[in-house]
Amino acid sequence: MKIYKTKNYDAMSRTAANIISAQVIMKPNCVLGLATGSSPIGTYKQLVDWYNKGDINFAQVTTVNLDEYRGLTRDNDQSYYYFMHKNLFDHVNIKASYLPDGTREDAEEECHHYEEIIRSLGGVDLQLLGLGHNGHIGFNEPADHFPKETHCVDLQERTIEANKRFFASIDDVPRQAYTMGIGTIMRARKILIIVSGEDKADIVRDAFFGPITPTVPASILQLHPDVTLVADEAALSRLPQ
Ligand code: F6R
Repeated sequence: MKIYKTKNYDAMSRTAANIISAQVIMKPNCVLGLATGSSPIGTYKQLVDWYNKGDINFAQVTTVNLDEYRGLTRDNDQSYYYFMHKNLFDHVNIKASYLPDGTREDAEEECHHYEEIIRSLGGVDLQLLGLGHNGHIGFNEPADHFPKETHCVDLQERTIEANKRFFASIDDVPRQAYTMGIGTIMRARKILIIVSGEDKADIVRDAFFGPITPTVPASILQLHPDVTLVADEAALSRLPQ
């Protein structure tokens, strides 16, 4: 694993955007795996900025996202579809972008369909990831096994509780989500994981320097042959000496 230590969130975002740009320059028709959340917002902003300056061209790039809430329509401002359009897709010339379809009723069919899309694209060249405080990647929460393929997850009570502030009432908070599995993520040719903040220092240590266990889903990345961790000083402040 390569580790890039940056001063702060902005520097992390620039470094990550540089790595994504390099991927797009080296393989203009690449498949990028993308994430939502607060970690990649700065990275997307930087990519949009370079696109506006004419420094990067996404005309042949296809993207696949990690996850999506089940049951939210695309125009719901809490859907990941909405997030990706707001932060990236509406501002650059990406050729095609895919997310799991949260409105599809038949979960099994949707998950199978999403795996098929990824396979038909030839797999993911570079997968961008954020890291949850409990070590989750995508919506793969701590468990007693590593889920292989795209699947439907029941959101933990804690997550539903934390999300309720974004909705009119707790009844509107989605109870389930579709997410790439750990196997899907591990099949990406390269992984780029970005982490910032002192509140993630313990999980960075546990995930990348602790035992490989499904109770810390990101720990499986230690077995991937091409992982780059870009993290700020605060997130790297508790590594083993
Ligand atoms: C987002 C995702 C999540 C986040 C993780 C970190 O698509 O799948 O695993 O990457 O929860 O979230 P932030 O970046 O908000 O700390």
